[in-house]
Amino acid sequence: MTTEAGELRDLPTLTPGPAELADLELLLNGAFHPLTGFLGAVDSATVAAAGRLVDGTPWPAQVTLTVPDDLVKEERLVLVDPEGVPLAVLQVTETWKDPAPPDGFGDTDPLRPSSAPGWRMAGTVTALRTPEHGPFRGLRRHPQDVGAELAGVTTLAIATRTPLHRRHLGQLRQLSEKLAARVLVLPLLGDGDADADALVRALLTVRRELPPDTLIVPVPLAERPGRDLLLSAHVAAAYGATHLFAAEFTEADAEIAPLRLVAPEPWAYDESVEVWRPTAKIDPEHVRPEPTEAELARLLAHGEEIPQWFTPRAVAEELRRANPPRHERGITVFFTGLSGSGKSTIARGLADLLVERGGRKVTLLDGDVVRRLLSAGLTFSRDDRDLNIRRIGYVAAEITRHGGVAICAPIAPYARTRAEVRRMVDAAGDFVLVHVATPLEECERRDRKGLYAKARAGLIPEFTGISDPYEVPEDAELVLDTSELSPDEAVARVFGLLVAGGWVRTE
Ligand code: ADX
Repeated sequence: MTTEAGELRDLPTLTPGPAELADLELLLNGAFHPLTGFLGAVDSATVAAAGRLVDGTPWPAQVTLTVPDDLVKEERLVLVDPEGVPLAVLQVTETWKDPAPPDGFGDTDPLRPSSAPGWRMAGTVTALRTPEHGPFRGLRRHPQDVGAELAGVTTLAIATRTPLHRRHLGQLRQLSEKLAARVLVLPLLGDGDADADALVRALLTVRRELPPDTLIVPVPLAERPGRDLLLSAHVAAAYGATHLFAAEFTEADAEIAPLRLVAPEPWAYDESVEVWRPTAKIDPEHVRPEPTEAELARLLAHGEEIPQWFTPRAVAEELRRANPPRHERGITVFFTGLSGSGKSTIARGLADLLVERGGRKVTLLDGDVVRRLLSAGLTFSRDDRDLNIRRIGYVAAEITRHGGVAICAPIAPYARTRAEVRRMVDAAGDFVLVHVATPLEECERRDRKGLYAKARAGLIPEFTGISDPYEVPEDAELVLDTSELSPDEAVARVFGLLVAGGWVRTE
């Protein structure tokens, strides 16, 4: 035991990305049965092409592990969580290179490491300890444990990333009665999903609308567009389900699925009697159309009521808490532009205006100020600039998550890094990019800090705009040129954008 522990200490470690960590948990607890480890090149390719492993076993999705270049020679690795806690040992059977995904998808997306081109490692994983779960750890159960409870019982599972509204509840009740089945609700918690706990709460609140012995077991399953249904089917089967509630599936899906896919009968809201019931029983004139996802999002963004005929009040409340109206939702206003373009002045003006008006908590993360504190010691190399922007992004995302307004004003010269920040913040709230597009000549003419003169004289190397790149944003929500606008006018433009978007209310 001691030698083993000692041996482990000497092994190199790898922290998988959020989606990979979720996969690891399901590999370790058997939910990905029959998989016992990450896939190699050939399995991965046949899964992508034909939905089967090389040996013919149906398996719907690529479950792979990315590795940085410096680990590709290793034969054993300890996989650790982001806090450095060892979770599992990977016995490497193959190190392989995945070709670039189509259309540049993925390689800039930190939440989808598996879709990035680069090195992968295949091999069996052995658990070192049960991962820590955070909220609702009491509900998470081992598939074998749930399977044992459900042995010999017809079980209808529903795997969902969204709350269940009145229609789903009615359909589930009807199907479970018809099949004489127990109900197993599997909330699928995606990677880095800010609303994961809200989803579980929303499902717990409708428990009493479902049969009394209904089980709710959250599962960390990263979303795979196009493969989600079949992958959920495998997971549900591993938990002992015999049937899966599936709104839409093909015959081919049904053939390859490890359990029975069952489609609910269409239901709708009957206005004449004010109940949900099978559409077949309703006079078409009395069918009330339900709100679409986009309509729900709009209602939430503007703080309007989600109708109670559509969803129980408690579910609406969870949705509202997870998606507050924009004037209560956190937002990051991210200014980018050359040194001397006027970013700091506009950012400070905006912060002051918001503070004067009240009702919003504001944090200003100015470029120069950040570099004196949060990023002290960093240089202006590409790597250090990226690290600086990621740090700003991290802090801004946390401020946004907690409902605040983060105003950032670094140069942020690289599009890819700005996109990374946008994604980090989007997962927590809203993000607006403002390009302060004052021309270089104007910035240089002002040269308030005398830096351009020094840069021209070669005294400051790698100076943005002179001897270092600035990638002009193509995704800015607003472009301002301070050679044409006064500072007050520029601030008013940004403020106007916040008002128009509903983030700031003007009474
Ligand atoms: S960033 O590239 O990492 O986003 P940041 O906004 O933090 O830059 O810092 C930019 C400020 O640092 C400029 O406003 C300027 O005052 C100062 N600075 C010093 N050296 C450089 C340089 N080589 N390039 C750009 N700005 C520099």
